Amino acid sequence: MAADPPYTSENLNRLGLRRERLPQHVAAIMDGNGRWAKRQGLPRIEGHRRGVQTVRMMIEECARLNIGQLTLYCFSSENWKRPPLELDLLMGLLRRYVIAEREEIMRQGIRFSTIGRTDRISSTIWKEVTTTIELSRKNTGMRLCLALDYGGRDELTHAVKAIAAQVQSGEMTPDAICEKTISDHLYTAGMVDPDLVIRTAGEMRVSNFLLWQISYAELWVTEKCWPEFSRDDLYQSFRDFAARERRFGGLVENRTE
Ligand code: IPE
Ligand code: IPE
Ligand code: MG
Repeated sequence: MAADPPYTSENLNRLGLRRERLPQHVAAIMDGNGRWAKRQGLPRIEGHRRGVQTVRMMIEECARLNIGQLTLYCFSSENWKRPPLELDLLMGLLRRYVIAEREEIMRQGIRFSTIGRTDRISSTIWKEVTTTIELSRKNTGMRLCLALDYGGRDELTHAVKAIAAQVQSGEMTPDAICEKTISDHLYTAGMVDPDLVIRTAGEMRVSNFLLWQISYAELWVTEKCWPEFSRDDLYQSFRDFAARERRFGGLVENRTE
């Protein structure tokens, strides 16, 4: 079956969106699964299960809107602090998700990748993850990046070690280190920085997500929990993003007074 067709300009108009004002790279902190489940009188894992449906919606919508990259914060380097039963259930869900979504990823021509540590998540999960990465390597559609066992501080520590080793071996001088050197040693090397970070469930914090890369990203927070985040909420975040004035530390054109 062919991929769902991209939205036309007419479709976008109807949604109040303009192609040239859409973010190129959208990143999401998918929070509130547990709170949503609790409110429904369900176990926390049900919240994670329902969250998978929101993940599917996000991927489909972002692909149809021609967003260049979608990065989803699935599991942080600090989430290992959770109780063993929740960790077990979460890892099981992740493995089943990666297997079940492979066909859909290929159908939509999505390029799949991950960021984060690779030495702590079980090898059975990594096997499935790398199979999908390899299979989708030549796809030319949206980039889908899952942040798994990811932490911004861990990523920067990892980068500093690699750069220090290059300096020690004489491959690089300290003076030659610039912002690009650091970007090139992060898990996100070669990716554009996020323009928009969406966080569900209301917390006003970044929780160790893409610390370097979100320097000038626009933050958009909703009270809704991840399992109840809808297409309309996503469109609203894009409309709000389009209305933001991004200055990057400079002044807006024609407004120097
Ligand atoms: C986000 O939902 C999913 C993960 C962090 C794995 P939470 O599990 O953090 O849900 P809350 O924040 O406890 O409601
Ligand atoms: C952020 O949510 C991590 C993910 C969504 C994977 P957390 O629930 O871990 O964040 P805190 O603990 O509220 O900061
Ligand atoms: Mg949380």
